[in-house]
Amino acid sequence: MNRCVTAMHFDIFTLFPEAFDGPLRCSIVGRAIDRGLLSVGVHNIRDYASDRHRVCDDYPYGGGAGMVLKPEPVFVAAESVLNWSAADGEPPCPIVLMTPQGRTLTQNLVSELAESPRLALVCGHYEGVDERIREHLVTDEISIGDYVLTGGELPALIILDAVSRWIPGVLGDEDSVQEDSFANGLIEHPHYTRPVAYRDWTVPEVLRSGDHGEIARWRRQQSLLRTQQRRPDLLERISLTREDTKLLDAQT
Ligand code: ADE
Repeated sequence: MNRCVTAMHFDIFTLFPEAFDGPLRCSIVGRAIDRGLLSVGVHNIRDYASDRHRVCDDYPYGGGAGMVLKPEPVFVAAESVLNWSAADGEPPCPIVLMTPQGRTLTQNLVSELAESPRLALVCGHYEGVDERIREHLVTDEISIGDYVLTGGELPALIILDAVSRWIPGVLGDEDSVQEDSFANGLIEHPHYTRPVAYRDWTVPEVLRSGDHGEIARWRRQQSLLRTQQRRPDLLERISLTREDTKLLDAQT
């Protein structure tokens, strides 16, 4: 469990800063910002373009469809905000490019990112970004899944949301991230709340029994079964205890 960071700062580089207005204001992320557990700088790449028209894209060398994000405004934006120069070598924090070509986001990768007190996220746009941004500016590339979006803004928000849950105090219940789906390699067990009977559907008896040992066993069993049914690939990656195998066998 990586809980060394007590607050986090994100710097987001984007051509569409307005895409962040709503999401950063609401719910858990909004509250984390209000409470100073999380801070976010949203930087308009266009503000760092040097020409009169603040152009940030250009045609691809060699021809082909679509436009390419130019290197200058992205380098200048990142270097100014991070108060660093690419010529100096290692940046002061990870600089992550949002791209479908990156490593796929998983809960493990989220927890790895949450170890850093500061993260810079670069939102790609257009057909692609100039390769020199990849080679000489960013330190990592992340994809949120095998599909292509119109830009990196939603992926950046997804990373920010998932990572901020790991900052102590952001979630009401300190242990929640440990019980999340994927935290232990399994999908989470079902949840129920009141009323005990809704229409004809009742809450499983065991959850109302007050027997914490039985409840924990039932939850573990449900978690194992769900994972077996929905994500057998996950089950192959973890080692089951003898008790786990018994819980699975009891149901199949
Ligand atoms: N930009 C466009 N598609 C993306 C994806 N799947 N992940 C991250 N950034 C993207």
